[in-house]
Amino acid sequence: HMTAELVNVMEFQELAKKVLPKMYYDYFSGGAEDEHTLRENVEAFRRITFQPRILVDVSNVNLSSTILGYNISAPIIIAPTGMLKLAHPEGEVATARAAALCNTIMVMSFSSTCTIEEVASSCNAIRFFQLYVYRRRDVSYQLVQRAERYGFKAIVLTADTPRLGRRERDIKNKMVPPPLKILEGLLSVELDPEKGGSKLENFAAKTMDPSLNWKDVEWLKSITNLPILIKGVLTAEDARKAVEVGVAGIIVSNHGARQLDYVPASISVLEEVVEAVNGEVPVLLDGGIRRGTDVFKALALGAQAVLIGRPMVYGLAAKGEYGVRRVTEMLRDELELTMALTGCSSLEDITMSHVRTERDRLR
Ligand code: FNR
Repeated sequence: HMTAELVNVMEFQELAKKVLPKMYYDYFSGGAEDEHTLRENVEAFRRITFQPRILVDVSNVNLSSTILGYNISAPIIIAPTGMLKLAHPEGEVATARAAALCNTIMVMSFSSTCTIEEVASSCNAIRFFQLYVYRRRDVSYQLVQRAERYGFKAIVLTADTPRLGRRERDIKNKMVPPPLKILEGLLSVELDPEKGGSKLENFAAKTMDPSLNWKDVEWLKSITNLPILIKGVLTAEDARKAVEVGVAGIIVSNHGARQLDYVPASISVLEEVVEAVNGEVPVLLDGGIRRGTDVFKALALGAQAVLIGRPMVYGLAAKGEYGVRRVTEMLRDELELTMALTGCSSLEDITMSHVRTERDRLR
């Protein structure tokens, strides 16, 4: 029978909501506490408007892009999101295959329900590995070694999660994490059966190392030859520190508003981070991107590329590998059209003067 054509990535969210058990939909879609930042991540993009240029030859619009020397089809990559088998039985493997088909990068989550080997052997996508540093340093060490051995090209150190944010939907639902197959043979965690609430929170409390600090970036550098990106930067001050400890790149992110509520939307702090970094390393951004126009806005404010979290998960939940592919293609096509309509035929043409922000209005 006929089904209406999906025309934007938000429609994948509606489909995902229909097909997923509430506990899992809430886990994927939810944020911390009041979910103020969750809404703000999306709303802040809406307050940025365009200053398009007319009568520019845009008969060829080129989106091809380079990150850490790797060529990709558009500056849109797949953010690390955990537990993807809760969205679809093929989980991380389907996501990796979609990344390969779209010629983009998948950042594989440390909280994966597939193994590093499974993801690596399923496709030839360029893959980065997202790292959580566990109390059991040996576990994190082993997974970094494995990622390197299996051809991952960079380590993305997530630095905003010394403890798990308070996600009240998960607490209400008594969210139970699935087996993290990636940890098989490395770690088994005894949860506290008497504790109510989110089992995921209980799991995180037992595994995450809250003592992780700047000095540990040196430790990470000593155990891998891969470039290190630091994810979770929200201030100019931390961006400078990251540059000083020698990271290869910075990801401006508030973890999809799942950690500390009432931090600003990631897009609202991008400009000041970019200023502080002063071109020394690439700056990427994630959080709230739902349209090609959002991608353009991030690029205009200085991001080299963006990462997409929830829309990829919704695509996966609704349509498996094909859904992730469609989400990527939709955002890419929308970005291409935005470039044409703003008068930019290549990514280098996109500048701050193509957008108008709250900051501009105050000037
Ligand atoms: C995440 N995110 C995340 N980040 C990370 O470094 N490791 C992880 O395992 C996860 N897991 C995870 C699960 C789910 C369900 C979500 C929604 C997010 C954060 C993610 O990488 C990214 O920062 C945000 O998702 C970006 O915001 P949007 O695109 O979801 O708005």
